[in-house]
Amino acid sequence: MRQNLLKKERDPSIIILDFGSQYSELIARRVREANVFSMVVSHLIPIEEINQINPSGIILSGGPNSVYEINSPMCDREIFNLGIPILGICYGMQLMVNQLGGAVTKAKNKSEYGRAPIIIDEDQELMKNVKNKSIVWMSHGDSINLLPSNFLQVAHTENTSHAAISNPINKLYGVQFHPEVIHSEYGMTIIKNFVYEICKCKNDWTADTFLDETIPRIKDQVGAKKVLLALSGGVDSSTLAFLLHKAIGDQLTCMFIDQGFMRKGEPEFLMKFFDEKFHIRVEYINARDRFLSKLNGVTDPEQKRKIIGNEFIRVFEEESKRLGPFDYLAQGTLYPDVIESAGTNIDPKTGERIAVKIKSHHNVGGLPKDLQFKLVEPLRKLFKDEVRSVGKALGLPDEIIKRHPFPGPGLAIRILGEISNEKLNCLRDADWIVRDEIKKAGLYNDIWQAFAVLLPVKTVGVMGDKRTYAWPIVLRCVSSEDGMTADWSKVPYEILEKISNRIVNEVSEVNRVVFDITSKPPGTIEWE
Ligand code: XMP
Repeated sequence: MRQNLLKKERDPSIIILDFGSQYSELIARRVREANVFSMVVSHLIPIEEINQINPSGIILSGGPNSVYEINSPMCDREIFNLGIPILGICYGMQLMVNQLGGAVTKAKNKSEYGRAPIIIDEDQELMKNVKNKSIVWMSHGDSINLLPSNFLQVAHTENTSHAAISNPINKLYGVQFHPEVIHSEYGMTIIKNFVYEICKCKNDWTADTFLDETIPRIKDQVGAKKVLLALSGGVDSSTLAFLLHKAIGDQLTCMFIDQGFMRKGEPEFLMKFFDEKFHIRVEYINARDRFLSKLNGVTDPEQKRKIIGNEFIRVFEEESKRLGPFDYLAQGTLYPDVIESAGTNIDPKTGERIAVKIKSHHNVGGLPKDLQFKLVEPLRKLFKDEVRSVGKALGLPDEIIKRHPFPGPGLAIRILGEISNEKLNCLRDADWIVRDEIKKAGLYNDIWQAFAVLLPVKTVGVMGDKRTYAWPIVLRCVSSEDGMTADWSKVPYEILEKISNRIVNEVSEVNRVVFDITSKPPGTIEWE
């Protein structure tokens, strides 16, 4: 009942109709970077729903289909009569042209992929402050043959006469290229022109407005009830802890389950920081032996993840009973999780929405859906970088906000094969040196992840006059935007040398350090 009385959540100012583009989410991120709240919705969204949301603008995403194919995804044609400004991107533009009486065919010359200089033909709002002949990112096999009435060509490239089009009377716009990708030099300018100049959106989506709106909502939702949060020390659960503590104070209990797979000093830091410094109640659960004994003899990586995941749930259930009862469970669900589980991708064959399967191993550490709690998920509309801004606005230190991503199963998947206390201690020491030197060199914030991996083989070395027979450590440093693809980081030789020397000298079970120079793909970031 209470749910129905809750103040309505903010509606997006810009909605992005998803036609199956790999970039739909990125478009939403770019619009939000302009401080305008946007959300991705299905291309099948009914007109009534759009009217309810009442957005200031609509963006039609790209997509893998051709508009002239049978079953290619369409939106309701009525969208173009709503009087709401629309920007079609790539497939979205072609769809608009097709649905409004123009013609789209296979590109005559050839498909156009990659960078192209754009020549601006019309000085239009959409192209305001965009430099003539600047680079845009093309990726299409179709092009426009005939414009619908009232449309004009705004820009072209060598291969495409209709690189940008507009119908200013009806506020309909289209670009053949992708303004959302970083390779389009003035892409962000075009997005800003659309949201500010054409849609007249306000730049009011900020961490502060988010907090102003969210804190009263949390208070409203929770009332005087008790909330439990599984704290891991990562940026999401830490931000959530701060946010909830600000909203409901001591009605919040955090539970930190120490599986024994964290990095050196992390459990101590976490307890000191939350409990002692900020007086956020954290229950420390030492489950190290429990996890280690469950993994005895286990070598398969997926098996390890499953065991850790299951054991985590078991400990969580037991401990929440002991500490509870609790009415609510707080979860750090983020917007990309919501988009993915809503399955907004399109089956190119049938034009229907399909669920996107989240890699099972990235779910480890999560809790099952059927736990007997009601959920509080105040971050579910945010992208990761927005969580960081909110965390910062709440006073979280850089140490947490800029912390490198760390997998749920922790060091257990950075020791290949069977784990043991001895190997964990060895890896912890080596890993600490890696972080220490990368930080000292001022490289920490330029690197996505920097860590050590322990290989369970022995290699021969020589130290002093003696032969050694000990483990090698792999140094893995990658740069990445989102973890989906990654380049190995070109760490200067002197730093590599320092790390190698220190590990071999300070960690007694190690006699060799190797540097991983594989990018993703074909390698993954982790070794297991
Ligand atoms: P891979 O190794 O697939 O990793 O290139 C991509 C990103 O995901 C993280 N990762 C995990 N995170 N549980 C997690 O919470 C896991 O089991 C897991 N495996 C990999 C990895 O650290 C990188 O950031």
